[in-house]
Parts: sequence; C-alpha cells; structure tokens
Amino acid sequence: MALQTLREALALAEAGEYAVGAFNVSSLDQVLAVLAAAEAERSPVIVQAIAGMSAYDDESAWWHRLRRLVDEHADRIPVVLHLDHGRTYDDCARAIDHGFTSVMIDASRDIDDDEPSSFDENVALTRRVVELAHPAGVSVEGELGTIGGAEAGITGTVEEIVFADPDQAASFVAATDVDALAVAVGTSHGSVKFTDAEGGQRLRLELIAEIKRRLPDTFLVLHGSSSVPAEAVATINAHGGSVRPSYGISPEQKSEGVAAGIRKINQGTDSHLAWTAALREFLSERPAVVEPSEQLRAGIDGFRGMVARRMREFGSAGRA
Ligand code: 13P
Repeated sequence: MALQTLREALALAEAGEYAVGAFNVSSLDQVLAVLAAAEAERSPVIVQAIAGMSAYDDESAWWHRLRRLVDEHADRIPVVLHLDHGRTYDDCARAIDHGFTSVMIDASRDIDDDEPSSFDENVALTRRVVELAHPAGVSVEGELGTIGGAEAGITGTVEEIVFADPDQAASFVAATDVDALAVAVGTSHGSVKFTDAEGGQRLRLELIAEIKRRLPDTFLVLHGSSSVPAEAVATINAHGGSVRPSYGISPEQKSEGVAAGIRKINQGTDSHLAWTAALREFLSERPAVVEPSEQLRAGIDGFRGMVARRMREFGSAGRA
C-alpha cells in the first residue's frame, strides 16, 4: 500500500473523531519503535522528522532510509511520512524530493531572528510551499500564532506563546489552502514546560472549538503536547540525570482537545523521556553491560511503550 498523505489520514480521523499521533524520530531505532507500536496497536501513525535534527551526518542518506523503512510497513499499517517544522521553502522541497507525503512549513517565526513573522510574510511563504506540494500530491501543515518553548531546536520560553486568532485562522487558510493548521492554544515545546505551582488546565478548549467552528474542513494540529510524566523525570534524575521538573498537557486535556476538534497530536518529548529513563535505569542497574544491542533495546522498549500508550489515549488504537 502507498503511504498516506496527511489529508487522507486526518480525514479518516475526522470521521472517526480521534486524533493521529505524530511522533518525532531522529534515528532508525526510533522509527522502528514507532512502527512497532503502530502495528501492535493497529493504529494509523504519522512518522515525523525535523530538518537538521538526526543522529547522522548525512541527512539525505537518513531520509532515504527513513522513507524505505516506512515503506516496508505501509502494507500493514496506514503511515504518513511528515516533515515537522520545515523552516524554509528549501527544507520542504528536499523533503518532497525524498518522498515525504506531508510537509509542515513553519513560517510563523522569522528564520533569521526567530521573532514572530508578520501575518503577510507567513501567508506568502506558506502559499509558495502549497503551490509546490499540492501538484506533487503532498499535504501541507502551516502554523498560526507561535507555540512556546524549544521549537525546531530553538530554546524559548512559555511567555512567548502568541495565541492563534480565529479570524486570522480563517483568513490564513483561505489565503494559503493548507490542509492542516498548527494552532497556538496554550501548549509549549520541549522537556521543561510549565513550572508554576498551579499545575492545571493549559489547553484553551474554547479557542480550539471556535477555530474548528470557523474552519470545519481544516485539520487542527496540537504541537508541544507532551505530558512530561513525573515518574519518567524522577527515574532520569534518580540515575544521574538532571531534568528540571515541570508539567505538561495531561492525557485528559488532550482527550478534551480531541473532542474539541484536534486531529493530529505531535509528540517528541514524552518518547524521549521514556527512552532516556529506560536507558539510564538499565545502565545503572547493569553497569557491566557494554553490548550496544542490550543498551539500545532498553531505550527502544521505553520509546515504543510510550508511543503505544499515547495511541490508545488519542483514540487511534484499533483504527487500522
Ligand atoms: P513536545 O516537545 O511537547 O513533545 O512537542 C513536540 C512537537 O510539537 C514537535 O513538533
């Protein structure tokens, strides 16, 4: 079976009222972990990579192998291969050349100074990418508002969140014809999220519902939605790590987000925390083990388990 486009996968999610998880990968082991979870859970899945972020020096070779691995699984599960946070037209063009079936152009921030771009600048670059991608049968995700935290490798703060505006969202989609829209609705990227004492509701559900009401045919995407499980952070820190405790978006809030209209949920951090916790625990409990396959297996198992858990929470398990 051919890979799915993002539009195809999210149209099915819309009909079934669930969200598809988009899991960040930066090495072949992580790809295998995500695909194994999808097969075990019989879940559609979005495998996503960020330009310039991988364990390898040669990005072209990495993307070719990524595409091949995903292809091998496409007979058994519906898979989308997506570029996450493309910052330039060239990032998106390279991904399309490598067989990605979906690209995100994140023109919400200026590439040079990382300051929020103007609405017109965002529209202009996003529109150019749509004009390249759509004739090639590739879906496009745009971003409106700026999501806080470390985005595309750039460290930011929660205070930087510029919330999406429903009027602008409607104008943005009309002007660009994007298939999916990442909306800044209270989330933040990265492994250190919210540190205030309240620990409460962060997701602006009424804003999601309002944007959805204005854009019934556009698929809404939640970025920066990891939960940052306290037990994973505690395990890391108990075994030599030093991750500042914080809290993220609870699984319950994500379910509410799905009910309000979110159809794609991005996750990098929670899988990374699970990998790091499992690997650190393994290395400290088995200090004599130097065989890489045993060490890697610990990390892969942690990563796969977290992805599988999220597929069940997002409602995509059992839909493939
Ligand atoms: P997290 O850092 O919350 O996992 O978000 C990842 C993300 O949104 C990638 O685009």
